Amino acid sequence: MPKKETFYITTPIYYPSDNLHIGHAYTTVAADTMARFKKQEGYDTFFLTGTDEHGQKIERKAQAKGVTPQAYVDEIVRGIKELWKLMDVEYDDFIRTSDERHVKAVQKIFRKLYEQGDIYKGSYEGWYCTPCESFFTEMQLKDGCCPDCGRPVEKTNEEAYFFKLGKYQQWMIDYIEEHPDFIQPVSRKNEMVNNFLKPGLQDLCVSRTSIKWGVPVDFDEKHTVYVWLDALTNYITALGYASADDSLYQKYWPADIHLIGKEIIRFHTIIWPIILHALNLPLPKQVFGHGWLVLDGMKMSKSLGNVVDPVVLCGRYGSDAIRYFLMREMPFGSDGQFSYEALLTRINADLANDLGNLVSRTVAMVEKYFDGVVPAHGEWNDADRLLIALAEGTPSRVQKHMDELQFSVALQDIWQLIGECNRYIDQNMPWVLAKTEEGKERLKTVMYVLCECIRIVAILISPTMPRTPARIFEQLGVSDPALCDFETASRFGMLPAGGRVQKGEALFPRIDIKKELADIVPAPAAQPAPEPKPAPKADKAPDDGLISIDDFARVRLRAARVTAAEKVEGADKLLKLTLSLGPGEPERTVVSGIAKFYSPEEMVGKQVVVVANLRPAKLRGIRSEGMILCASDAHDKTLKLVTVEPGVEDGAEIR
Ligand code: ME8
Repeated sequence: MPKKETFYITTPIYYPSDNLHIGHAYTTVAADTMARFKKQEGYDTFFLTGTDEHGQKIERKAQAKGVTPQAYVDEIVRGIKELWKLMDVEYDDFIRTSDERHVKAVQKIFRKLYEQGDIYKGSYEGWYCTPCESFFTEMQLKDGCCPDCGRPVEKTNEEAYFFKLGKYQQWMIDYIEEHPDFIQPVSRKNEMVNNFLKPGLQDLCVSRTSIKWGVPVDFDEKHTVYVWLDALTNYITALGYASADDSLYQKYWPADIHLIGKEIIRFHTIIWPIILHALNLPLPKQVFGHGWLVLDGMKMSKSLGNVVDPVVLCGRYGSDAIRYFLMREMPFGSDGQFSYEALLTRINADLANDLGNLVSRTVAMVEKYFDGVVPAHGEWNDADRLLIALAEGTPSRVQKHMDELQFSVALQDIWQLIGECNRYIDQNMPWVLAKTEEGKERLKTVMYVLCECIRIVAILISPTMPRTPARIFEQLGVSDPALCDFETASRFGMLPAGGRVQKGEALFPRIDIKKELADIVPAPAAQPAPEPKPAPKADKAPDDGLISIDDFARVRLRAARVTAAEKVEGADKLLKLTLSLGPGEPERTVVSGIAKFYSPEEMVGKQVVVVANLRPAKLRGIRSEGMILCASDAHDKTLKLVTVEPGVEDGAEIR
């Protein structure tokens, strides 16, 4: 038998937090969907996830609870594993950084880097952000706080080991430039090169003496390995690298995809590749930094208190519906708003109406008109041929978009087929055909085409919604596993006539959205009555068309980078732009009337100036959060973007 091609995908390893939120589930569900898809395609797949258990943060939390750090994390890890089970996340291995196998391998890696001169001993004086487990220089702080999360930092002064990151700066820049697929989406690549690599890399502090909960440096035990160095190596230690049995490492490394959130791209596309290169190991083929799930304009995060619990959501609507929503709602790579309304609308529109109704009415009609037996089809007519061609072409479109990690587009491909099936029913009007003998002959073909399309849909949705296909196959009377194979999804006509359908429960019961919202959406916390506003001053400024410096100061102009752009359907002047205002902030959407002057492709990667505190407005149903500045040329009536000099950080205030 020929050797199967391998596919290795990883999620970040999670900080043990007692309630992971739906934002965390986003990364894992995406990785699981991808792994299931590759398995379906026939790859020998390995999917790794796990927990990042060491460091000051955990040490302090355990201390506060009066338990050992190990006991503290053991309890939490149990909960995390239960969550993944609930969400049908089927990993091949779960690495914990407190695992003996990991600890031993990290020690060997640290020692090797030390012995070859890439790690040296010095002393560290600077600032440490415990929540981010990151070091910063005085210069890097923002208003004296962590530039990533904005929280207070602690002064640190201790003996430490350093890794010679600086030595590899040019090599890293060249590598990124020569491997355009390495960092995805492309906009994140520009951010890494321009904001972090070109300004210069400082050597990285890779040990702490004041923290005990971690991997001890085995040749200098008062030092503990820096958590990020410890954590990043999980991707190879889980495969047995630097152990007696490294067969998995030999088989699966380099990883095909490290799937991560955008705030940890710097660690994965600068520090991690340099460590691997220093160890003389190949680099992962791709690091994909996805956007955030945002609630009320803020990144969903426990410390902000705006989290949504996936256990509650799965309990109410089922894990398939939640997985579908996560993968369908947000273009992968951009930030996406979470709202209960959007979730419930998707469940009703896409799952209950489009998919659920298609299955239930098809099965009901086969029962009614053909005593529940799938009829043999006759000659195809033009309408049949069109739908069959769409069905046969859908698997390859899905494949293309999945390979680009465009989960939502791949689902749109499938839903296009579902939509066409529903239209095909309406156009063919089975209830009319059933009235005459001739019509009934034609109806056999119509029902066969529908049953076969549903079989194909069931195969294609299974990586995203692992539970629903079995329920569909049961209703269709399909029990032969060969008919559920991805390979047969593009071969229309595999479904044998004569099978017996069986009406089942509605796949996704409709939800009364109003009632449900009243039930589930947390009531806003009672706000203290606002202070009465001071009465406006009587002496008004003269209305001479001029504004005061205070008026101007109210306008917040900021530099922003376009990370995605697309045309707004049905509006030839409008582009929908996704803007990044730096790593610490959620991306925002701005609708801009520049489509006649700039194509979406031209816009991606450009730095623009945005009015950042403009009240959001809905344009063509899209919430626009700001406005980008353009200069209008009176001569040729064109618009040209206002931009900033190279080297300005995304998010910088413009005064
Ligand atoms: O970063 N929307 O762990 P973590 C989307 N231990 N994704 C989100 C999110 C949100 N609102 N909130 C969190 C760590 N995530 C390190 C990784 S890897 C060697 C070490 C995602 O538990 C986040 O972007 O803070 C990241 O990909 C994952 O959850 C784990 O985050």
